[in-house]
Amino acid sequence: MKSVWYKNAIVYSLDVETFKDSDGDGIGDFRGLTHRLDYLAGLGVNCLWLLPFYPSPNRDNGYDVMNYYDVDPRLGTLGDFVEFMHQARDRGIRVLIDLVVNHTSIEHPWFQSARQDKNSKYRNYYVWSDDPQPNPDLIAFPTKEDSIWEYDEQAGASYLHHFYKEQPDLNIGNPKVQEEILRIMGFWLELGVSGFRIDAAHFLVKNVGIDGASSEDLILFLERMREFVTARRADAILLAEANVSPDQIPVYFDQGNRMHMLFNFLLNQQLFLALARQDANTLKDGLKTLPCIPHNAQWLNFVRHHDELTLDRLSDEQRQEIFAAFAPEEQMQIFGRGIRRRLPPMMQNDRHRIEMIYSLAFTLPGTPLLRYGDEIGMGDDLSLEGRESVRTPMQWSDDPNGGFSTASPDALVRPVISEGEYSYPHVNVSFEQRDPASFLNWMEHLIRTRRQCPEFGTGKWQMLETNEPAVFAHACKLDGATVLALHNLSDRPCTVTLEDIQQEHLMEVFGDNFSLVRYDQKYKPLDQSSNTISMNAYGYRWFRVSAMH
Ligand code: GLC
Repeated sequence: MKSVWYKNAIVYSLDVETFKDSDGDGIGDFRGLTHRLDYLAGLGVNCLWLLPFYPSPNRDNGYDVMNYYDVDPRLGTLGDFVEFMHQARDRGIRVLIDLVVNHTSIEHPWFQSARQDKNSKYRNYYVWSDDPQPNPDLIAFPTKEDSIWEYDEQAGASYLHHFYKEQPDLNIGNPKVQEEILRIMGFWLELGVSGFRIDAAHFLVKNVGIDGASSEDLILFLERMREFVTARRADAILLAEANVSPDQIPVYFDQGNRMHMLFNFLLNQQLFLALARQDANTLKDGLKTLPCIPHNAQWLNFVRHHDELTLDRLSDEQRQEIFAAFAPEEQMQIFGRGIRRRLPPMMQNDRHRIEMIYSLAFTLPGTPLLRYGDEIGMGDDLSLEGRESVRTPMQWSDDPNGGFSTASPDALVRPVISEGEYSYPHVNVSFEQRDPASFLNWMEHLIRTRRQCPEFGTGKWQMLETNEPAVFAHACKLDGATVLALHNLSDRPCTVTLEDIQQEHLMEVFGDNFSLVRYDQKYKPLDQSSNTISMNAYGYRWFRVSAMH
């Protein structure tokens, strides 16, 4: 039987450059990260997703790669990477890395050679046109770029770029490019990674401007990648970033022979709509639109990650509802379709509500993802450009620079949040580790309990009817064991009637009753003679259901 470890992993994403600086140059590095592996293991994380750490001119936070076979010298060396991998493995932590192969950096030697010489063997590694079509709806960064084509003087032709013009798209239809991609994957698999996050996967399978390759051919490349990865390492996985409509999901999963996992963009957007409306039916509608996925496939559920909270799958009106609730000022929004804030500021730092949201994200069918700083309730810095607002350095302590680096503040890769309620003297790991009621200790508890309830990741799930429109209730069943979770999306307490569930069979395993900040709102013991369950405002309760005879 194949290992399905990814179905119940706790995934934690981080950017090496903003996590921990070990040598005082102001930039996080692999040695710094390695020193913090015990912290991550203690938190209960067992899978890291590292954002791109390759040499890069950093036009797009490292998503513009100059060399796929090395570590950016600012972050360390390949030797440091191998030592990090060894230490992570010792602690039972797997590592996924970003595979950014929809495009390279404009400074990649392949592109340099391709633009200089029509006869270069790299010319066809990219997509050229003498008569480019504007295709404005394909532009990934609409307020930053005005076309997906850029005329290049040296090349005497225009090249395709879905993202910044400094990120020319690779010609995935070219078998040589496909070979290069497999070689890159092979390299990192030998160094021990457990798989790849495939960046911009939905652009990889588009054949815009590519002569001779149909979209079907490109899709088949996803299968080749899967075969290759599995042949090299049976338990390695492919996690694709593909923000697509429900009918396109099968392109990525097919019969379970393409991607292992997909980011759940559909549910993420519907979740925020449900939160804005304080309405569980909106969330249910979202879950209903998800197609059935093969038994070996999995969703990766997230609240926020390193990009904007994109709301592009919603209608204009729905998007406006979310903006009004969580990002009312224009400077909080980006690209006309998203929000560039972290969760706590969006929720006015309402601890009860934030707990409920993470509890919900950890119980929804799939594997949960956290982003560095989520566990301590970090905020954002809207004075920074674009998506940088949510990419500030990790706050470790109340030492200068939040303990991230000993460099002078103006030498930091990005400023640490140093003012206001989210500033490092208020929000940091060291302080929260000492406070039993802290968000960090709550998060550790959440992770520990989620790991004890694999039913949420692998079980057969079912939404339950309740009499309360604000309460989302669902049950997950695996090998005869059942867990049940209730989440009150609203700011009003209520009492829920659950048909078919008898209280004597319920054992509460997690919930806001256990949260040390809810000391004044404890629930009464369940009343065995009734089938009602009370819920605090933004309450959440998980139960184990014992077998009914
Ligand atoms: C993905 C990344 C994003 C990046 C883009 C281009 O969407 O998450 O940060 O800008 O790809 O590589």
